[in-house]
Amino acid sequence: MGRLVIVSNRVAVPKRGEPPAAGGLAVALKDAFSSRGGLWFGWSGTASAEPADVVRHARRAGVDYAVIDLSQAAYDGFYAGYANSALWPMFHFRLGLLSYDRRQADCYWQVNQHYAEKLLPLLRPDDTVWVHDYQMIPLGAALRAMGSKHRIGYFHHIPFPPWAVFSAMPGAEDLIRDLLSYDLVGVQTNRDLTGLIDCMAQGTGMKVRPGPEVRLRGRRVQLRAFPISIATDEFSELAARSVKSAEAKRLGASLTGRAMVIGAERLDYTKGLPERFKGFAALLENFPEHRGKVTYLQVAAPSREDVESYKGLKRKIETLAGRINGEYSDADWTPVRYVGRAMPRDTLAGYYRMARVGLVTPLRDGMNLVAKEYVAAQDPEDPGVLVLSKFAGAAEGMPEALSVNPLDAVGMAETLHAALTMGQEERRERHGAMLRRLRENSVGGWAAGFLDVLEGRVPAEAPPT
Ligand code: G6P
Repeated sequence: MGRLVIVSNRVAVPKRGEPPAAGGLAVALKDAFSSRGGLWFGWSGTASAEPADVVRHARRAGVDYAVIDLSQAAYDGFYAGYANSALWPMFHFRLGLLSYDRRQADCYWQVNQHYAEKLLPLLRPDDTVWVHDYQMIPLGAALRAMGSKHRIGYFHHIPFPPWAVFSAMPGAEDLIRDLLSYDLVGVQTNRDLTGLIDCMAQGTGMKVRPGPEVRLRGRRVQLRAFPISIATDEFSELAARSVKSAEAKRLGASLTGRAMVIGAERLDYTKGLPERFKGFAALLENFPEHRGKVTYLQVAAPSREDVESYKGLKRKIETLAGRINGEYSDADWTPVRYVGRAMPRDTLAGYYRMARVGLVTPLRDGMNLVAKEYVAAQDPEDPGVLVLSKFAGAAEGMPEALSVNPLDAVGMAETLHAALTMGQEERRERHGAMLRRLRENSVGGWAAGFLDVLEGRVPAEAPPT
């Protein structure tokens, strides 16, 4: 078996002697890398004033890393521009926020072409190439145009809307055409698969056959859903350990017996934070019995601050938090605790375990791993309740969560009330079912499942009904 070559926009090279990052793709790929060796290629995370042309190599724990800087112009046009001002809002159904600029779009295709030129010489004939996420859609086509015969797969981590939404993007057909260069296109959920099939059919005029798949020039492009997950047992153990840490004890003492509701994410408009704050305010308004009895801790890590549509968000949330606290606080109780920075993963794991409610209410989300982590973090004997947006991909595999539409503040308040007053038996039943499913579908299985289809070890399944 050849090597596994991963391409993703961001590549975090572990520091010498330190383990790889504990979250995200690094965890998902650990088993695949350790069984066959591999190469991880992508952006170093640095934007440099100079034109960026040099690939830097490092080898850590059996994995080769090859990273490249982006020039400031490429960062502006490709990353802050087309990828995060046009593609990101479109894929999240936010056409009102879509800001398209032809030069930025050109820059996106040029950066992908540049990456392909740097990657191709590093490839061996029997390598399998797995490209990740919306920043890199044209990469497969660029490699093919230079003669690559590799098996190349693409996984789309964020939602995939139907053609009625997708086609609003100028050049929508170009994006769909580029997806046809892959042997396998994976998405998170059946809902996304329906969107992808619709875009393939309407954007190319080609027939999508059962499988589902598209055939062109003797090649087939398979389309399939692979819901990503977490390393469940490891996260459960981390949470059980972290809840005994000094930070967790400090937080526990400060709650003075009050129930805690927790939310944690990147500060992104897709996460529905203002709507969540309004839902929490409606809880205090409509269910006064919770006043003085519940504390909502929101952790929001700054993200993409140089992208226009993210700029007002921080202010908006700070204003809402201030307003709720001004209205409902008491001398010895603050309803909203807002932390506007990232927190270490282990600290968060402990906090999740202490929270009676995990409040995960994105307006759209590919999967949302916080929902899964919250469940994994709970004490199975006395677990908290997950309140989950119906628009998170995770909702498809977690029917025992309490489902909300984040646009309905009063509905969210009613659901929060139900969560805060739910008896232990029902909490255990719901949590037990979700935890069992999470343990059966580990993240290692996600990567293996994708690679099994890409490398032809299992046939594609029938389309969703
Ligand atoms: C989402 C996307 C990833 C992206 C991450 C962080 O999870 O699916 O592709 O890397 O957000 O965003 P950033 O722009 O900081 O890389």
